[in-house]
Amino acid sequence: MRSNYKAEPYRIKMVEPINQISKEKRKERLAQAGYNPFALKSEDVYIDLLTDSGTGAMSDKQWGALMQGDEAYAGSRSFYRLEGVVKHITNYQCFMPVHQGRGAEQVLLPALVKHEHMHFISNMHFDTTRAHVEIAGARAIDCVIDACFDTKTHHPFKGNFDTKRLKTLIEEKGKENIAGIIMTITNNSAGGQPVSMDNLKETAAIARGYDIPIIIDGARYAENAYFVKQREKGYEHKSILAIAQEAFALADIFMMSAKKDGLVNIGGVLAIKENEALFEQCRSRVVPLEGFPTYGCMSGRDMEALAVGLEEALDEDYLEHRTDQVKYLGDKLKAAGVPIQWPTGGHAVFVDCKAMVPHIPYHQFPAQAVVNALYEASGVRGVEIGSLLLGRDPDTKENIESPVEFMRLTIPRRTYTYNHLDVVADGVIEVYQNKDRLKGLDFVYEPPVLRHFTAKFKPL
Ligand code: F0G
Repeated sequence: MRSNYKAEPYRIKMVEPINQISKEKRKERLAQAGYNPFALKSEDVYIDLLTDSGTGAMSDKQWGALMQGDEAYAGSRSFYRLEGVVKHITNYQCFMPVHQGRGAEQVLLPALVKHEHMHFISNMHFDTTRAHVEIAGARAIDCVIDACFDTKTHHPFKGNFDTKRLKTLIEEKGKENIAGIIMTITNNSAGGQPVSMDNLKETAAIARGYDIPIIIDGARYAENAYFVKQREKGYEHKSILAIAQEAFALADIFMMSAKKDGLVNIGGVLAIKENEALFEQCRSRVVPLEGFPTYGCMSGRDMEALAVGLEEALDEDYLEHRTDQVKYLGDKLKAAGVPIQWPTGGHAVFVDCKAMVPHIPYHQFPAQAVVNALYEASGVRGVEIGSLLLGRDPDTKENIESPVEFMRLTIPRRTYTYNHLDVVADGVIEVYQNKDRLKGLDFVYEPPVLRHFTAKFKPL
């Protein structure tokens, strides 16, 4: 029943035509792409659920704001406007724009690594965050609750830290060897799953006890705040802004890919609560890596659009529709028997391919096989989040077996309608009905880092 899900809290002012090529053509294009949908041309994709990163629609107010961009190299008015919004939301003193999330990672993370053999501990590192941790000479440890990997069981906050294990890890490694604790909200890699405020508080208290800096990787912090309001006792009557501010008050540093809850196509944020010395270190790194500190790789107009987008993403009607779209697709798939991460989270439906195609072993990339079958069946592009993405152990070079093999169906913001999601559901259900015929993949080419983007395969 559509009426159980919130209708679009906007009307459409501009459209972008999309078209669907034939099944024969899709098979041909996928083979040309080396069975890696990252290599497809977007014009060969009908509904693109590869990512929610920078793929959303801006509002009329954001497009209007673009015209007000001040493109001064230094001291741009648009910088000060954006700084005002970021400070209002976070209450942090220091801010610099960066080109996207990984811009913040490359500026910040090496500044926190003081010596050899340091570690970052996160509920779950996003893949670029893990890569930057390793480039900085440190190691990344994930420390999420076990319920996160149990896709069938309902848990309202599957992004939560395993706080008991966190303490053990700090004791084991030694607090002087922990460069930072990264709270990824929402936990992207395991289903856009939220972290409760209670868990954030407990994690922060542990980090404070050991004097370890706390970093919020908050690409989807507004979605997290919405789930706290929906699912956590005591937050029913608080505003999304107040909940977000409470989360930021618990941490020291905020890194954000603004391509998600900033509602822009490109941009990022690095904000530091009060550590001037760290800010100075980051400022000297940002200049050669990203640009002068008042633009950091963003144009003035992009900073204007982000200033507006950050505020729009805190709107409750917007967030209700956003999360309802994800739930709608999830509910349809679940009703048809397709195994998915449950409950659905903030930005995507995660199909559990370990449960769906158990006959394909992890080193033949089961979720990639499902992603490819979905593209061939319906022209919908999803993405693999599993053993292919996880890569190899940086020390032993062995393929790491991921605890989960997901096909992520990532829904861009304010872009597709419920009708599009019906098409997606039909495609997934068709693949599900033929799942026993799916076969795994083998590498034809494997790049050394972030291999999923450019690898080439052959079907077995
Ligand atoms: N942190 C999280 C939690 C992310 O989801 C992403 C990006 C980043 C950091 C890096 O940000 O792409 O702007 O450099 N996630 C995208 C995705 C790419 O598809 O989930 P970026």
